Amino acid sequence: MSDLQWDTFSAINEHRRSVRDFTGEPLSDKDMRAILEATQLAPSSSNLQPDELHWVKDPGLCSRMAEACKGQRSAKSASAFVVIVAKWRGVKQTYQDFLAHVDHSALYDEKSKAYHHGRSKEISLISNPVARLLAGGFRFLLSFFTAHVTLAPFGTSGLHHWAARNSIFAAQALLLAASARGLDACPMEGFNPMRVAKVLGLGRGEVIPVVIAIGKRREDAKIEARWRRGDAIVFHQFL
Ligand SMILES: Cc1cc2nc3c(=O)[nH]c(=O)nc-3n(C[C@H](O)[C@H](O)[C@H](O)COP(=O)(O)O)c2cc1C
Repeated sequence: MSDLQWDTFSAINEHRRSVRDFTGEPLSDKDMRAILEATQLAPSSSNLQPDELHWVKDPGLCSRMAEACKGQRSAKSASAFVVIVAKWRGVKQTYQDFLAHVDHSALYDEKSKAYHHGRSKEISLISNPVARLLAGGFRFLLSFFTAHVTLAPFGTSGLHHWAARNSIFAAQALLLAASARGLDACPMEGFNPMRVAKVLGLGRGEVIPVVIAIGKRREDAKIEARWRRGDAIVFHQFL
């Protein structure tokens, strides 16, 4: 790894702050498309990509979004929004599309093809309602004994958590991509999910892990001093 690579990453990472005062000026479609395409490179479990990136730029929709985000400063001054929407119901189809791609591509060897085909039964279980009900009950009962199982992707609620967790990687990629492109953003969970779902016309099975306000920071933007807890890195020593 070169120093340049690290310095570039550090500069982008340091520049990223939660900005709450934007200029409100329109953003170029070219910048937004570049950011959204970069965001799509985020990783996801089994490459199932259970997220959608809803780009809101129409001024009328933006003001409805600002209201749905409880009139927060960042939302009211933003030039655009990207709403991260997570949905597990589409993953079986995504996997089928992926298998079709694998089958028609010369870039995967026979071993890879066999591996990916071998996983399709496991992925299909997600959309099996009986398996979902049983696994959900199992997770619920176990959760009385230990919190470790509460994030397991079992049952409908477990799958919502799983999809939301996966889509957070896209959210962070988007924040860094915006920073790299000289733009600013504010991730928000202070929003009314029913109202955001209505603005976007979302279906019942979709969840909204986070809404991201995007824009250019105003010169006088108030940005809080940075603070991080000192005990978040836990070293495990192996003797
Ligand atoms: C999941 C999540 C939800 C957040 N929700 C809000 C929010 O609703 N409103 C807001 O102003 N900031 C929100 N933030 C921004 C945090 O306050 C901010 O990330 C934190 O204070 C650290 O500051 P920094 O992002 O500038 O490093 C949220 C951040 C995350 C990751």
